[in-house]
Amino acid sequence: MTNSNLAWWQTGIVYQIYPRSYQDSNGDGIGDLPGITRRLDHIARLGVNTVWISPMYPSPMADFGYDVSDYCGINPMFGTMADFDHLLREAHARGLKVILDLVPSHTSHLHPWFLESQSHRENPKRDWYIWHDPKQDGSPPNNWLSVFGGPAWTFDEKTGQYYMHSFLREQPELNWRNPQVRATIYNAMRFWLDKGIDGFRVDVITRMIKDDQFRDEPRNPNWNGVNPYDSLLHIYTKNIPEVHTIAREMRALLEQYPDRVLIGETYLPNHELVNYYGAQNDECHLPFNFQCILLPWNAQTMRRAVDAYDASLPPGAWGNWVLGNHDQHRVATRAGATQARVANMFLLTLRGTPTTYYGEEIGMQDGAIPPEFVQDPPALKQPSIAHIIGRDPERTPMQWDDSPNAGFARAGVRTWLPVADNYTTCNVAAQERDPGSMLNFYRALVQLRKDEPALIAGAYASPDAGAEDVFAYTRTLPGANRLLIVLNFGAHAHTLDLSRVASRATIAIATGMNRTGEVDLAQLDLAPNQGLVLRIV
Ligand code: NOJ
Repeated sequence: MTNSNLAWWQTGIVYQIYPRSYQDSNGDGIGDLPGITRRLDHIARLGVNTVWISPMYPSPMADFGYDVSDYCGINPMFGTMADFDHLLREAHARGLKVILDLVPSHTSHLHPWFLESQSHRENPKRDWYIWHDPKQDGSPPNNWLSVFGGPAWTFDEKTGQYYMHSFLREQPELNWRNPQVRATIYNAMRFWLDKGIDGFRVDVITRMIKDDQFRDEPRNPNWNGVNPYDSLLHIYTKNIPEVHTIAREMRALLEQYPDRVLIGETYLPNHELVNYYGAQNDECHLPFNFQCILLPWNAQTMRRAVDAYDASLPPGAWGNWVLGNHDQHRVATRAGATQARVANMFLLTLRGTPTTYYGEEIGMQDGAIPPEFVQDPPALKQPSIAHIIGRDPERTPMQWDDSPNAGFARAGVRTWLPVADNYTTCNVAAQERDPGSMLNFYRALVQLRKDEPALIAGAYASPDAGAEDVFAYTRTLPGANRLLIVLNFGAHAHTLDLSRVASRATIAIATGMNRTGEVDLAQLDLAPNQGLVLRIV
């Protein structure tokens, strides 16, 4: 039994790089493309097959690259186009696919298109952005809010209208109802696809079209009073039906190239998320599934979430799992350091393509950011909730070794964010030397995923493990080994009766890499914070 009929994005693992934080090669304290190229061997040795690079386009960096000022260029801070071409060649030479971040919903306020649009009401590019007259009293056209705080509208004195921005005022929204906008962004996609990149992760794909009647959004009756953005229900600015026409157009464009992938950033509940596969499987190959990031880390919550997601996937849809990214606190912090191995075992044994955020392979945790180092715009705008919405902690430099600056940058360089305090012990070089380290555990799990076809394509079921803290599931593929994964999300030992699954099994891998041999499933001992992958005999 093999998985040879599956695509690379189904059998493989995506590894996300935040380029500012991966490897500095020129001593400016900010990561860059030559730095990534230098580290490709590390990525290839993990056994993952895909690198997704967060934006590296020209940008004034108001939102650290998610404010693009040229869709077909490279930010000099990150290198040159030649550096990018070199990176792509070197990645491909190692069997690694490269996915770029496409940020089509908004540009930088300094993008030449916006400067033109803003210059005059009659400018041909006026309609490329979302402009609207003030209300009679001069206030914004409606109550829409910015995700990053304050209204979603900024007044332009010169032309006497407001422009809309879902995020910062430095990120004006493009008007995707305008056919020229669509054609222009599609050309930018072709530019990169023609270079040979392997696909796109589409930023905020759910927000690409807004209500054309500009209706007020209703109050959220369940608002918890914390983040003002959550005080409204975003039914007119997010996930409105016309978005799907864009997703279909993007997919159709990708289909003109062999073997590419379209990934969508889709923070949505299952019943809405699955629509992003498209009624004919003609939208995203992988609409990102973020629920395990957003939910509390406990066995029964995760079990319910995985059960529901797995059951919700329409025919022909391929699932995916994400436990961390550049917008969310790191899983080893959310779940706790003692759970970091369980988290990786969970991610790499579920049914669907896993995405690993850089550093998860060594168990990196959120870095502590002293107030004077805070960089992230929403945290600066709303200091009272910075601890919740601030994203600097999960963006600290990759920890390569125990030298000053953790091998991310030369000693003496001031890095753009401080290196996390635990770098002297939690780093790639130290873990390389330790056969029982998280890094070697991660590699072994990836190898197991390659060796056991059931881990890729096997059906998922979750038998009751009989303990509140434990989540157990099986992966079953006819003709292949059947696997049982048992994860202890808690700090107490258990003896479990899983004889309803089978009577005996052998340990394929344990979180501590210190347990092997055969076990009796009627009396399975599980240590605190332990995870096991078992081959059913
Ligand atoms: C989603 C990106 O992941 C996030 O980092 C960014 O701030 C917003 N989109 C705005 O582009």
